[in-house]
Amino acid sequence: MATKMSQDELGVLDPETYANGNPKTFGLPLEAFRYLRTQEPVCRHAFPDDPLLLDEVFVISRHEDIEMVDRDSETFAANRGVVNFWAFAPLGEAIGAPAMLTQDGEAHRSTRRIVNRVFTPKWVKQLEEKFRNYAVAVIEPALAKDEPFNFIEEIAHVMPMQALGDVLGVPEQDRPKFFHWVDQFAAPFDTRITPNFEAVGTAIMELYAYAIELEQLRRENPGDDVMSRLAEAQLTEGEIRGNVALLASGAAESTRTSLGHGLHELMRRPDQMALLREHADDIPLSVAQEIVRISSPFTHLCRTVTTDIEMHGVELAEGSIVAMMFAAGNFDTDAFEDPDQFDIMRQPNPHLSFGRGPHSCLGKHVAALEIKILLEELLKRTKAIEPAGPISYIRDAYSRGVYELPVKMTPA
Ligand code: HEM
Repeated sequence: MATKMSQDELGVLDPETYANGNPKTFGLPLEAFRYLRTQEPVCRHAFPDDPLLLDEVFVISRHEDIEMVDRDSETFAANRGVVNFWAFAPLGEAIGAPAMLTQDGEAHRSTRRIVNRVFTPKWVKQLEEKFRNYAVAVIEPALAKDEPFNFIEEIAHVMPMQALGDVLGVPEQDRPKFFHWVDQFAAPFDTRITPNFEAVGTAIMELYAYAIELEQLRRENPGDDVMSRLAEAQLTEGEIRGNVALLASGAAESTRTSLGHGLHELMRRPDQMALLREHADDIPLSVAQEIVRISSPFTHLCRTVTTDIEMHGVELAEGSIVAMMFAAGNFDTDAFEDPDQFDIMRQPNPHLSFGRGPHSCLGKHVAALEIKILLEELLKRTKAIEPAGPISYIRDAYSRGVYELPVKMTPA
């Protein structure tokens, strides 16, 4: 038995751990994850003095346990208002914004069915052309500068935002303000992005108000987008607010994060970059999956225990909150061969970054397509992509953004 590590030593829910992550381990605390999986697979973390965080959370770190928790919504409920280890959340019944991620049973299934009608393979395919245009529109000016630039700001930021605008049906003229709200959501604890907590609150309120406006607009002028389906299905105002907030907080930043960690790792691993270049005409989707695995854009999501249970010798009373630590499960040697290696051809790749149960990510094909297309367009137009400075990460223990990735690209 290894020496017991304290919560502070582990740091898996400490924003500083991710802000100061080691670029050689994907910015992740892989050693701490290993300790948790092998020594304390259900590990209590407490935050008694921070009003912005939950009092207590039990971190679940093994791949098979996370999958079990995610699939068993009877024992591990999503609808008790807790999303992550923050004590506040823009989603949930209690604050008048139930989103499908904070619903269970029939309520969840019926909203998910409505939104799922949009996310057909045919519809995703149709997005391809739009995504290529977005990619080219940002890559060409960045290359034309002929000097190093921040990949996150110049390239990775735009496409996921525009894609989200298309998915939700946000009109062109509303996108700048919509993107501003999305940015505020993405990093509430990093003052380089959000000056203070009030700014996050204001962004949430403005987004809620806009959600209702957008619903009216799409009811009058329906299109092939999520909001038109929500309007058609006559969801309550609360559900409209909640589901818009869900998409605004979950869909764009996560994809941007993946692009940032993915390109960083490709630059660190010339063999993988060379292999990718061989497939630049049609990048296999396995590449996007591996990028999303090592990125683990959301370190965790929480569930509430609905009945007294025991897991690995730890008593979990009804009402206890468990954190499914996806980022730890994604490096579990019981589920992956050589998980600490970045392998763009990895098959199978049962990663947990998109979740695994009834709530598994509805946008996973959209996200994978965005990554594939952006990389294809980037590789086509470049001979070499090299680091021009160190990567720096967002200060956050939930959403694992990249703040800066300086790159130098040599045009093809
Ligand atoms: C790399 C990018 C993304 C990651 C890592 C990601 C991750 C996740 C995760 C972890 C969940 C919850 C899964 C669970 O509880 O089991 C989720 C749910 C969801 N995601 Fe994503 N997501 C991404 C991109 C997107 C995009 C682009 C969209 C929309 C266009 C989207 C829409 C949704 C929706 C609607 C849900 C709620 C599903 C439900 O509760 O039934 N996501 N996502």
